[in-house]
Order: sequence, then C-alpha cells, then structure tokens
Amino acid sequence: MNTIPEHINSGPWMLDPAITYLNHGSFGARTVEVFEAQQSIKRSFESSPVDFLDRRQHLITEARECICSFVGADSEGFGFVDNATTGVGAVVSSSKLVQGDEILTTSLVYNGVRQLLKHYCKENDLLYREVEILLPIESSDSIVSLIESSITPETALLVVDHIASASAVVFPVKDIIQLCRQKGVLVLVDGAHAPGMVELSINSLQPDWYVANLHKWTCAPIGAAFVWANDSHRKSTHPLTISHGLDEGLQKEFDWQGTRDVSAWIAAVDAVKSGAEIGWDTIRAHNHELALWMQDHLLKAWNAESLTPIDGNMLGSMATVYLPENAPNELDSCVALRDEIYEKYALEVPIFPIQGRGALRVSAQLYSSEEDIERLLAAISSIGILE
Ligand SMILES: Cc1ncc(COP(=O)(O)O)c(C=O)c1O
Repeated sequence: MNTIPEHINSGPWMLDPAITYLNHGSFGARTVEVFEAQQSIKRSFESSPVDFLDRRQHLITEARECICSFVGADSEGFGFVDNATTGVGAVVSSSKLVQGDEILTTSLVYNGVRQLLKHYCKENDLLYREVEILLPIESSDSIVSLIESSITPETALLVVDHIASASAVVFPVKDIIQLCRQKGVLVLVDGAHAPGMVELSINSLQPDWYVANLHKWTCAPIGAAFVWANDSHRKSTHPLTISHGLDEGLQKEFDWQGTRDVSAWIAAVDAVKSGAEIGWDTIRAHNHELALWMQDHLLKAWNAESLTPIDGNMLGSMATVYLPENAPNELDSCVALRDEIYEKYALEVPIFPIQGRGALRVSAQLYSSEEDIERLLAAISSIGILE
C-alpha cells in the first residue's frame, strides 16, 4: 500500500470547494493567484492595446524563455499556440508527407487528434493506421515492440502520446523516439498532459516535434500551449494561421497568428513560478503518489485488475480503473452516469468505455485528497453499482 502524501498548501484554487474535483486531466485548474495574474495582464492590454501588442512583445519573448527552461527546450524551436490540438494540426500540415505515406499512431490516441489525423490523411491521400495496444499493458517494452513491429516502409510519421488521455498510460517516449530514428520515421510526441506531470527535457528527447499544453498540469490559464520543432524542421514548421512573420523564423511566425489575446501565454510564467515556489519535483512526486494511492484504493474496492504495472512505473498523476462489471459500458450510458454523479453528489470524474468496459479516470493534484476517493466510492455504490 502506498503512503498517502503529506498535504501541500498550494494556496486557494478557483475551483468551487463544494465540488469534489477528480478531473484535473481534462482542462486543468488554476490557483487564484494565476487567475488574478492573467486578469492583470488583460487589464494592462485593455488600458493601452497598441502599446501592449506592438511595443511590449518582449513579454512573449520572456514567456517563451521561461517555458523553455521549464520543459528543457531550446527556444529557437518553440512557438506558442492555443492548445495541443492546434499544435498537432500545425505540425501535420507542415510535415510535407506525400501521397502514399502513412501516419501511424496508437489505439490509445486522444480522439480529437485521431479525427484530425484521419481527416488530414483523407484530404492528402495519405494512409492512416493505429497500432492496437490492448489493456492491461505488461510493460513499457511491450509498447516499444508493438510499435516496432507495426512500422512498414510506408510509415513516414509516428504520432505518439507522451501520456495517453483515457488510459492515463505514460508512454516510453525516449525509446520510441530512438526507434523512430533507427527506422527513419519522423516522430511527433503529443505531450498534452506532460509539462507539470512528468519531468521533461525536450532537448534530450529530441523528437522531430513536441506539442504540449500548459493549461493542464502546469495550471496555466486556458489557451497556453506550444509546438517545438527540432533543428531539421524549424524553417518548414508553420502555424495553421500564416501571417506577417512568414519565413522570418518559427518564433516570429508563431508569435503573431493574427490579433489575439496573449494573456494566457504570458501568465503561464506565473503558473511556472508559483509551482516552483513549492518545487515542481515535490508537486510531481505528491501527485504521482496520490494517484497510485487512489488507484490502489479503487482496485481493492472493486476487485479490479490494474491496466498498467501495479508499481505505477507507467503512470503519472492520473489512473484509469475499470468500473465493476454491472456498470455501464457504452459511451452514452457512461456519460449519463458521470452526469448523475455530478448532479447528485457534486463530484466530477470522467467515465467512459475503454476496450468494451466502463472505466473512470482519477486525477491527483495538490487540492486532491483521499477523502475524494471515499466520496467517489460512496457515490458509485449508492447509485447501485457494486462489485
Ligand atoms: C493526449 C491528448 N492530446 C491532445 C489533447 C487535446 O488538448 P486540447 O483540447 O487542449 O487541444 C488532449 C486533451 O485532453 C490529450 O489528452
């Protein structure tokens, strides 16, 4: 049994304390401090819009430098975007694949990204394929082997999650990137959940591209995300919206994607700094231990099988657990159960089918506690879902 981590005082959050919030993974959450920092940036913009956007572009430069040092990336390859989906869109549309090339991803891919890739492949006469990854997963090595045996001469680009959304699986991206190098396959890592959840050094990983959100586990305002391209792709990687900066370098192109609210990018600095006051290692360790404790508790309560190795080496700050057998196992009924739990018990937790069975995903963040899991178990059993 894992020990329950010490509570860390992270200051007040914007979340309603009347809600048991077990879904940090979807849209993150912000502290009051970070929310107020963004409000003050917005006020500053509104007080003198031209001055802010035309003469104070150093604020974006400074934000880029701060985030780059947080995620271990060199800033020449770094461009801000609004969200990971937009980042993936920018990369695939810059990737110069030709008719007959294949984009390979896995069956655990985030569904929004799946649709984006399928659409892009259809529009451009490319092949689209998913490596089927069945749960439970035995080890990181088994994922690398599955991907290796799925690469064909047509495979031109692998899109792989750093941390998969529904299954919460942490992929062995370092080994996967090395494999792609050996096989001559380009690799885009979708790190939507990674910054703030796992230690990150994009420079050491050296994928072709890395895309990530800051509005999830870095707790930055919504709309803070980035694309990073390695040296070989910096001149050819463009944002989806081309504007003034075309061919003036990746940074300039991404800095100006038309007139927009850049306050989330700038306030991401406040989120990074406020986490650093506690210590990002401390936050990550706390969240990981608590997520494992949550998983352990739910597995025992429902006599369920773990989807990943029980020691947690393939998990970060989230865990996905099969619901008891009599729980819903189709999308509509899972969503109905999720909504019923929210309405009756003010508890937010994502519930969805995964590989034919109903499951839920818990997220651990500094505001979470073991009582949240007791409330979740009580809610599920009073609704009549029993082991
Ligand atoms: C792995 C993964 N990729 C992409 C996304 C999309 O993120 P966004 O909606 O911020 O674009 C998510 C969202 O949860 C995700 O989990």
